[in-house]
Amino acid sequence: MSERIAIFDTTLRDGEQSPGCSMNLEEKLRMAKQLDALGVDVIEAGFAIASDDDFAAIREVAKVCRRPVIASLCRTTPADIERAWEALADAANPRIHTFVATSDIHLQYKLQKTREEVLEMSRNAVRLAKSFTQDVEFSAEDATRSDLDYLCQIVEAVIDEGATVVNIPDTVGYTIPSEYHHIITTLKQRVRNIDKAVISVHCHNDLGLGVANSLAAVAAGARQIECTINGIGERAGNASLEEIVMALRVRKDLMPYANSVVTEELYRSSQTLSNITGVQVQPNKAVVGKNAFAHEAGIHQHGVLKNRITYEIMTPESVGVKTNSIVLGKHSGRHALGKKYEEMGYNLTRPDLDKAYKMFTKLADQKKEIFEEDLVAILQDGFTQIPERYKLRAVQATAGTSTLATALVTVNDTKTDDSETQTSSGDGPVNAVYQAIDKLTGMSGNLLDYTVRSITQGADAVGEVFVHVEFEGTSYTGKAASTDIVDASARAYLNAVNKALYSQERRKHVQN
Ligand code: KIV
Ligand code: ZN
Repeated sequence: MSERIAIFDTTLRDGEQSPGCSMNLEEKLRMAKQLDALGVDVIEAGFAIASDDDFAAIREVAKVCRRPVIASLCRTTPADIERAWEALADAANPRIHTFVATSDIHLQYKLQKTREEVLEMSRNAVRLAKSFTQDVEFSAEDATRSDLDYLCQIVEAVIDEGATVVNIPDTVGYTIPSEYHHIITTLKQRVRNIDKAVISVHCHNDLGLGVANSLAAVAAGARQIECTINGIGERAGNASLEEIVMALRVRKDLMPYANSVVTEELYRSSQTLSNITGVQVQPNKAVVGKNAFAHEAGIHQHGVLKNRITYEIMTPESVGVKTNSIVLGKHSGRHALGKKYEEMGYNLTRPDLDKAYKMFTKLADQKKEIFEEDLVAILQDGFTQIPERYKLRAVQATAGTSTLATALVTVNDTKTDDSETQTSSGDGPVNAVYQAIDKLTGMSGNLLDYTVRSITQGADAVGEVFVHVEFEGTSYTGKAASTDIVDASARAYLNAVNKALYSQERRKHVQN
């Protein structure tokens, strides 16, 4: 039997730290369920002491995802570790992940501690964590810029205290494959008790080497890889999960290691994350990019038609990309829709199917052909758990080269069931719509980002609008899809308003 590589997903923790990728509780739960379906071994669900939202997310993910290990990050202070453990209280398989920096640069400028002090902090942290749970991971932050003798000393000490996983992060994306290989090999050779723990790697992508470094570390003996969906993460991101997993699968001849990832769920995982955050992957992104399986050059097309193996090292199906996605139309019934969802891997309950069917028929009135992306959009848009305080009733906008843009918006307040209409002018129709909505809701939003993209093909394509809006210093995402861009823009903005109101309500609830 081949040796196993554990896949540790940190999309919800390190990934969430990247600009524009913050997620609310419901979004984290949705992503966590998808990561569970993907088969990752570990889900790092957050940094418990960082915020009440992070704490709540870890707790909920732990309740819902019972198969994988659920990890919470913490520094080495007792308060951090205790908070992590509190968040993990309901986990079936909890892991405390404690970290401290070990490079002289960090010791001198960030921690202002001596090596001996950091060694002692690490020992104490692992000892305390171990009093709560047997599964304890220790990370030596900035390991690749740490003195190698000191790194060996600290790794040995934490394993003596009971650390079951020792992580050697390339925190600033500085190392290269040969050097990283050497670091892991040295640890294997010099650390007396190294066989009592799993060596983990965690690579950032500042030089674009995150995946290559992770694989080099595996060749040297690392048996856990920390990574994120779509490679999101601090600065240039983390090593991308889908690239690592497919490299391991495609080049099994050179890397004969098993892992538990269901590769057919990779594309859906990537799409789910993009759908939640609004951050799309670049078209030429390996494995999950729009062009990853597109063959443009005639000579390539010719070859692929004769035999796919000529220019394809993996099939689209192996990562969950379906090649023939046009299936349903106006005349398709509920049964056909349910069957199609089943085929796509979604088993809807009867009430959910009814809800989806209602939205499907509405869409089918606007579009001739319904693609799989439309069906995913229906599920992702229509099943969000955020209570809709404000609902759009009608929107009308006028604009032109020589006229002032104006908008007329009618919104229903579901709390009072009153509908109100407001008009406004603005710099363009979308801005006019947003000003009118601000008047209607009494919320003053600062639009940080606005993106629109077509999520389906054809002249009657559905456009998806994604916004980042700041309310009282906190940024919220909002999205909506429609064949009418002004309608989608208004609903995306209201989606952000509703999230802001919901989050304010929840905070009040937590404080009381
Ligand atoms: O990059 C890093 O060093 C980290 C650790 C906290 C694991 O994210
Ligand atoms: Zn990191």
